[in-house]
Amino acid sequence: EKGGYEHFMLKEIHEQPRSIANCMRGRIYADEARINLGGISEYAVKLAQAKRIIIVSCGTSWHAGLVGEYLIEEYARIPVEVEYASEFRYRNPIISEEDVVIAISQSGETADTMAAIELAKKAGATILGICNVVGSSIPRLSHAGMYTHAGPEIGVASTKAFTAQVTALTLLSLYIARQRGTLPASKIATLLAQLQKTPQLIKECLKNEPLVKQIAYEIKDSTNCLFLGRGINFPVALEGALKLKEISYIHAEGYPAAEMKHGPIALIDEQMPVVVIATKDSSYDKIISNIQEVKARKGKITAIVTEGDTIISEIADYIIEIPLCEEALTPILATIPLQLLSYHIAVMRGCNVDQPRNLAKSVTVE
Ligand code: F6R
Repeated sequence: EKGGYEHFMLKEIHEQPRSIANCMRGRIYADEARINLGGISEYAVKLAQAKRIIIVSCGTSWHAGLVGEYLIEEYARIPVEVEYASEFRYRNPIISEEDVVIAISQSGETADTMAAIELAKKAGATILGICNVVGSSIPRLSHAGMYTHAGPEIGVASTKAFTAQVTALTLLSLYIARQRGTLPASKIATLLAQLQKTPQLIKECLKNEPLVKQIAYEIKDSTNCLFLGRGINFPVALEGALKLKEISYIHAEGYPAAEMKHGPIALIDEQMPVVVIATKDSSYDKIISNIQEVKARKGKITAIVTEGDTIISEIADYIIEIPLCEEALTPILATIPLQLLSYHIAVMRGCNVDQPRNLAKSVTVE
């Protein structure tokens, strides 16, 4: 049932070219710059006219929400707030009938996320669910939605569900942009065509596994690890840190790279591995300065870079390449080596990667 892999998590990491393709299947008409989202079409106008979008979720799904915020604001130009469902539900939040609330959940059963949407529904908001498990509770509570179609995720640490959530949010952001006319059709067509290539690009990322394993060996005995990213890749840093802590029990934190100097930089010494997402995007020059700041304090740097990068390889201790792609798609690709890194570190430390201590696959209690 593990398809020849040692663990479900590894199987699910390797399934991502297929799960992403399944998430896109039947939804993209790149030539016409058109996206077909059957479960949302009834609410397309409501969505396009939303004053505000609030994303509620927990854990890894919350990280996907942060990527979604970036995509929706950039392409559809609607203000987005991303909330931990558990905070939102207890805060007497301000919600109106013009708000659209998007609940993101792999399981579709997370108690806090369900309570958050029930609250928003009572206040008159339109609820849209982005879930993986077909027929689960959140889709039933929602007015509209889209399934991520990543297939069953058995490993407790979320992998393929996350990249499918980000894919779904990319589609949704372009869908709203198309309705609102906030992005030229030609740009939408280009992005869709690129998105269709991601399964192939993920395969390229997976080929780096032997190298990632070597880096895992260097990091495995650390007690702490810092993950840095900027812009659309800041949530990827958070996700990299969460993956590492939950399955390897190494304390890890994700930070926006520029925030480092406001505190965490004090932690950096030769014992501290620092993983930086440093792809060639709009933050590239800034992230190089951040890498230099880490280097000056002797931190051990692993950088996720765009294929062919020659500048960062001079500074970083280790580099892992991902293929060149549109900035919007870098979160999906940059996540792959981070998943592999956590996985191999956890295996080397003898941890139960599929069922980490104290964790459950779906958190149905608050
Ligand atoms: C982390 C992880 C959790 C879940 C969170 C939300 O790898 O799996 O953080 O992402 O419990 O679960 P869902 O998405 O089912 O609502």
